[in-house]
Amino acid sequence: MQMSNRITAFQCSPIRRLSPYARDAVRRGVKVYHLNIGQPDIKTPPQVIEAVQQYDHSIIAYGNSEGLQELREALPLYYKKYGLNVDSEDILVTTGGSEALQFAFMTLCDPYDEIIIPEPYYTNVASFAHSAMVNLVPVTSKMEEGFSLPDISEFEKRITRKTGAILLCSPNNPTGHVYTKDELLQLLQLCEKHDIFLIVDEVYREFCYDGKEFTSILSFEEFSDRIICVDSFSKRYSMCGSRIGALVSKNKEVLEHALKLAQARLCPPDIEQVAACAALKTDDSYLCEVRSEYERRRDFIVNALKKIDGVKVGNPKGAFYLVAELPIDDAERFATFMLQDFDLNGETVMVAPCEDFYVTEGLGRRQVRIAYVLNTDDLAKAAACIEAGLKAYRSQVMGL
Ligand SMILES: Cc1ncc(COP(=O)(O)O)c(C=O)c1O
Repeated sequence: MQMSNRITAFQCSPIRRLSPYARDAVRRGVKVYHLNIGQPDIKTPPQVIEAVQQYDHSIIAYGNSEGLQELREALPLYYKKYGLNVDSEDILVTTGGSEALQFAFMTLCDPYDEIIIPEPYYTNVASFAHSAMVNLVPVTSKMEEGFSLPDISEFEKRITRKTGAILLCSPNNPTGHVYTKDELLQLLQLCEKHDIFLIVDEVYREFCYDGKEFTSILSFEEFSDRIICVDSFSKRYSMCGSRIGALVSKNKEVLEHALKLAQARLCPPDIEQVAACAALKTDDSYLCEVRSEYERRRDFIVNALKKIDGVKVGNPKGAFYLVAELPIDDAERFATFMLQDFDLNGETVMVAPCEDFYVTEGLGRRQVRIAYVLNTDDLAKAAACIEAGLKAYRSQVMGL
């Protein structure tokens, strides 16, 4: 029987599609260090787990499509800590930041409309765009420029009648770039000039390093009507499996229309929203400690990778990813080789090949995304595997 052309053309996520090879490696007794996925090993705050254990409703009922009122009322207090003025009515609770991105695309774009995005980008955005039949129009950011914002004229050149929005992610997955206040302002002015929206995915808001201050798009109140902020509890409180996020906007029309999508999916998960309320009561010291831990890991893995012959590393300033360029021909083949044909004393690594983090054909072929979500002891072992794996791949596969 026939499957849709849409689903046949859908990508298998480069973050997950090599998982069967990883499972085979584990079956062979090989330990796999997972640097492919942003699944932190950081403990979820204990009160989140307690809130789930103490959930005492006799029926797990449907809730409001907008989200649990208690959560919508607690979130503005969280934003207030950062000096951001968000009201509960500006918030639509979503099933993860993923759903917020999908709602934003569906709300702003018709089929074949366009969203302009710096590449490399969070690869699942391509899948969300594909589902909404939206075309991603890339502006390439370059490793040698620290993946900073390309010249604003590059964005302007790409704006057409079909452009619905520009989408940014800050701190960025996969590059680790944190957009400056000035970069955000330039983009907002451009959006204003062409009357389009700016969507900013801030799910890594707290993870900024080197003492750098993070600028949230929500702080630009004079442009608030054309701003959509995507948020999530997943990484902040290491509760990725809870699937709670938010679409935040001061634009009432956006929220009214997005609510229709929210009503169709009925409500976000109830128990998890109760857990999210508990997460918001977490002491600020938790996030400070988590940030320091990631910064330590960032320093460690960047240094370890830079010592490997032929490896170039971006300049990550936030989130918990980096893009590394490897002295190889094809990152997908290398990543597969690492899982299928290689181990160092019974250990190997899984990385995410970067080609599908780009729209532009051919870019990212020698790049991998590394998520530094493991402790430094494991990162040291993983870096040793990458070094030995590169030597083995270059000699066995590339014949060098
Ligand atoms: C940039 C970015 N946005 C959104 C998401 C989706 O997060 P959630 O778990 O909230 O759906 C991720 C997950 O890795 C991400 O990296």
